[in-house]
Amino acid sequence: MVTDRFGRHIRYLRISLTDRCNLRCVYCMPEDMVFRPHAEMMQDDEIITLFRLFVDLGFDKFRLTGGEPTTRANIVELVREMCATPGAGEVSMTTNGILLDKLAKPLAEAGLKRCNISVDTLNPERFRQITRWGRVEDVRQGILAIEEAGLLPIKLNSVVSRGMNDGQDVVDLAALTLEHPWQIRFIEMMPLGGLGDFQQAQIVTEAELRSTIEAQLGPLGMLNGGKLDGEARIYKLKNAQGDLGFISSVSAPFCATCSRVRLTADGRLRLCLLREKEVDLLTPLRQGATRAELQHLILTGIWQKPWGHGLAENDIAANRQMSEIGG
Ligand code: GTP
Ligand code: 5AD
Ligand code: SF4
Repeated sequence: MVTDRFGRHIRYLRISLTDRCNLRCVYCMPEDMVFRPHAEMMQDDEIITLFRLFVDLGFDKFRLTGGEPTTRANIVELVREMCATPGAGEVSMTTNGILLDKLAKPLAEAGLKRCNISVDTLNPERFRQITRWGRVEDVRQGILAIEEAGLLPIKLNSVVSRGMNDGQDVVDLAALTLEHPWQIRFIEMMPLGGLGDFQQAQIVTEAELRSTIEAQLGPLGMLNGGKLDGEARIYKLKNAQGDLGFISSVSAPFCATCSRVRLTADGRLRLCLLREKEVDLLTPLRQGATRAELQHLILTGIWQKPWGHGLAENDIAANRQMSEIGG
């Protein structure tokens, strides 16, 4: 088992498969985003080699992210190879969902466990404003496709920004749980990359969101005794089939129980989402480092994992956009 110097057990790796995306969410990247050259990105065999090193170290929870992971060529083959690795545990994905209509079934057959889908509003016009290019109908089809493919349970992620989707949009999303056994999670905007100031001005707290929802849909009952389920605090509307989660990493950090590290699309081990510290794994891999040398780099890196983020001290990680890390 891998631990850091604070005794946290680290066993969850989020792998960004690409920094590219078929949308341009306003809080995530500029419209004219410049991507890194392909040659700097992990190739399929490099991803599988690093993936297996983490499996051998005892990691048993993997999440494929982006940019948008479904835009990667060979995504189904990559998932199949990962899932066929003995001891790999659970391999899931976080996606904007717009390509799932075609991909849900092949991904499920390849062994993918679950999909979390990002959708910030159900309103078509607002969806286009937030994503700049997207059609919310494609996401709806994607959600139905994963349900049919048995990629369950379904969690929808909604990043809430002030003045954008913090009113009726939140209520409409929450109301989905009355009819569907889904978990709708409202995520506090996190400041990162060059967009930090904009993002910080947009933060809407969990308390505000709960009262907006309760005003229209009635009281929320707390589940799980108020304890976090993963990183979310869980509530339920009366007679609902699904539940609501609130991920409040800025106002109520969950760093003490953090079990994850990240692999960026260019092969850097990112030790904390909101801190700049990274360990380059791809360059040594390309220079012929042995498995033992790479494992040593991973273990000494994780030992140095920062305790938590520095947002309270206005310390905002600026070396990457969210799209390069994958949330
Ligand atoms: P489940 O296993 O389904 O609970 O997945 P997950 O919540 O780990 O994955 P997902 O990609 O759906 O993450 C949801 C959101 O949680 C992300 O968009 C981030 O906003 C937030 N998040 C995930 N990991 C971290 C973290 O290490 N630090 C902070 N501050 N936020 C995180
Ligand atoms: N703050 C919080 N979440 C964000 N995401 C993208 N940018 C931000 C941000 N600044 C979310 C996406 C997706 C997840 C992987 O990260 O909406 O659900
Ligand atoms: Fe793409 Fe996700 Fe960023 Fe939106 S938040 S631009 S869907 S990577």
